[in-house]
Amino acid sequence: MKFQARHQPTESEPERNILELLPDCDYEQALHDVAGFTRIWLIWWFHRNTGWRPRVLPPRGPAKRRGVFATRSPHRPNPLGITPVQLIAVEGRQLILGACDLVDGTPVFDLKPYIPAYDSFPNEKAGWIDEMEATLAAPPQFRVEFSSLAQEQAEWLLRHWQIDFRPRVHELLSRDPSLHRTRRITRRAPDEYVIGCGAWRAVFKKTGNVVLIQTLEPGYPRRFLEDPARTEGLPDRDAQLAYMAQWPSRLSEILPPEAP
Ligand SMILES: C[S@@+](CC[C@H](N)C(=O)[O-])C[C@H]1O[C@@H](n2cnc3c(N)ncnc32)[C@H](O)[C@@H]1O
Repeated sequence: MKFQARHQPTESEPERNILELLPDCDYEQALHDVAGFTRIWLIWWFHRNTGWRPRVLPPRGPAKRRGVFATRSPHRPNPLGITPVQLIAVEGRQLILGACDLVDGTPVFDLKPYIPAYDSFPNEKAGWIDEMEATLAAPPQFRVEFSSLAQEQAEWLLRHWQIDFRPRVHELLSRDPSLHRTRRITRRAPDEYVIGCGAWRAVFKKTGNVVLIQTLEPGYPRRFLEDPARTEGLPDRDAQLAYMAQWPSRLSEILPPEAP
């Protein structure tokens, strides 16, 4: 799922990914000497994208559009991605990699060694990103509260399914609860909003600088979760069905799923 891929690789969490090169192309030879590098660049294709946008809404920071060339957005006229990824091992035609931000099946065009002496310039300026990091370092503007129902639902999810998206909801909404496509914040009613987190949704209201999470909901309708043709790859499917049995809600039946 696209929403499950990281915006940039997060190396604080252990992760292993396999990149397999095509057979019968002499790539084993091309991989000679690569194992000595602990990081490589992947140059790849955002193959799931169609079209591009000149101005895009970055997932972090204030809800402000930026020129696509000032971002790492996938929505580019020539949809090429670059990722400096940790190289754990080379085994034949397989590369064992650390954290990645590519979805499974992404075509990779090329690999190049990451060379700290050539590729790292830590003192350069990073325009709006520097400004955004300074803003994010300041205390959050909004207070996020959970209703007793939402708190009970969150605790049930944690206890029975080890699912807890409260930290993510808190992180995003305490900074900025305004409508945002990539943060998956939408309006459901004149004063009611929804934020999507993985396969789940939190419904909230805003009053002044207080964001009240009213209830949590599964992100997919029951007919999707129970459809044998769709079950493959539906995240948290069993947990969502069990949740519906615990907290029946008509909304999860009638709302269309968000685009992944
Ligand atoms: C923000 S981009 C950054 C990509 C890369 N690190 C770069 O700077 O070019 C990463 C996002 O691209 C999306 N993505 C990953 N693989 C993709 C693919 N094959 N096609 C379309 N979108 C993809 C995922 O949503 C992921 O969170």
